[in-house]
Amino acid sequence: MIPIPFIPDPIINCDYKNVYTPSDDSFLLIDYFKRNIDENNFDGIPISEIENVLDLGTGTGIIAIFFQLIKVQYLNFNPKIYASDILKEAIECAKINEGANNVNKEIIFFQSDLFLSFPERLKHSFNIIVFNPPYLPSSQLINKNYNNKIMDYSWDGGLKGYETLINFLENAKLFLNLKKDHSIYCITSSRTDLLKLNKKIKNLNYENEIVEKQHIFFEDIFLNKLQYKTH
Ligand SMILES: C[S@@+](CC[C@H](N)C(=O)[O-])C[C@H]1O[C@@H](n2cnc3c(N)ncnc32)[C@H](O)[C@@H]1O
Repeated sequence: MIPIPFIPDPIINCDYKNVYTPSDDSFLLIDYFKRNIDENNFDGIPISEIENVLDLGTGTGIIAIFFQLIKVQYLNFNPKIYASDILKEAIECAKINEGANNVNKEIIFFQSDLFLSFPERLKHSFNIIVFNPPYLPSSQLINKNYNNKIMDYSWDGGLKGYETLINFLENAKLFLNLKKDHSIYCITSSRTDLLKLNKKIKNLNYENEIVEKQHIFFEDIFLNKLQYKTH
C-alpha cells in the first residue's frame, strides 16, 4: 500500500497589522484540499494537467504556500503558483511567510484589485482559482466598529456582503483555462443573502456545488466549488 503523504500546514507569521490572520475559512479550504488530493487527481482534475493555480486575496499567503507544499509531496503536481492581493502589506507579509516555509521563492506575486493589474498573458491560463473573499455586509461592519478603511479589505464584501465576490466571478471566467478541467473555490457566509447570491452566480453561468460547511459562532460558512459552463 502506498503511504498517503503528509502535507503540513504552512508556517504563518502575521505581524502585519492590516493583514488577515488565517481563520476557520482559510482552514476550511486547506483541509478540504488535503482530503481531496492523491498522486493522480486534485479534486477530480488530473494533476498532470494543472499548469497554473491562483490564490487571489492571498493575505498572509497561506493558501498559495500550501499549494507549494503540495508540490513537495506530490512530485507530478507541478503548476506555477500565483498569489495576489489588493494590499501591499499582504504581499510583503506573504513573501516573508514563503521564505519561512523554505519553498524556494517560486510563488509569483501581484498587487492587484481583483484582476485589474494582471498581465494579458494570464488570460485563459488558470486551472484552479481560490478566493477566500471579504464576505460581510458593510452595514454589519459599521455597526460593529470594524470601520477601519484598510482592515476592511479583509471583511467588507460590499453593501450586501457579496459584491466583491460577484465582481470577481464576472472577471474570473476570462482568466480560467476553459479548454481544460477547471475549478474556482470560494467561501460564502450565511451573513449575506445566500438565495440572492446563488441566483446571481447561476446567472453568471457558473455551476455551484457546496462541498463543505462549518458552523462558527453566529454564522455558517460554506466552501463553494464553481465551474464555468461554456454552453
Ligand atoms: C478573508 S481574507 C483571506 C486571506 C487569505 N486568503 C486566507 O484565507 O487567510 C480576504 C483577502 O482578500 C483581499 N482582498 C479584498 N478585496 C480584494 C480585491 N478587490 N482584490 C484583491 N484582494 C482583495 C484582502 O486584502 C484579504 O487579504
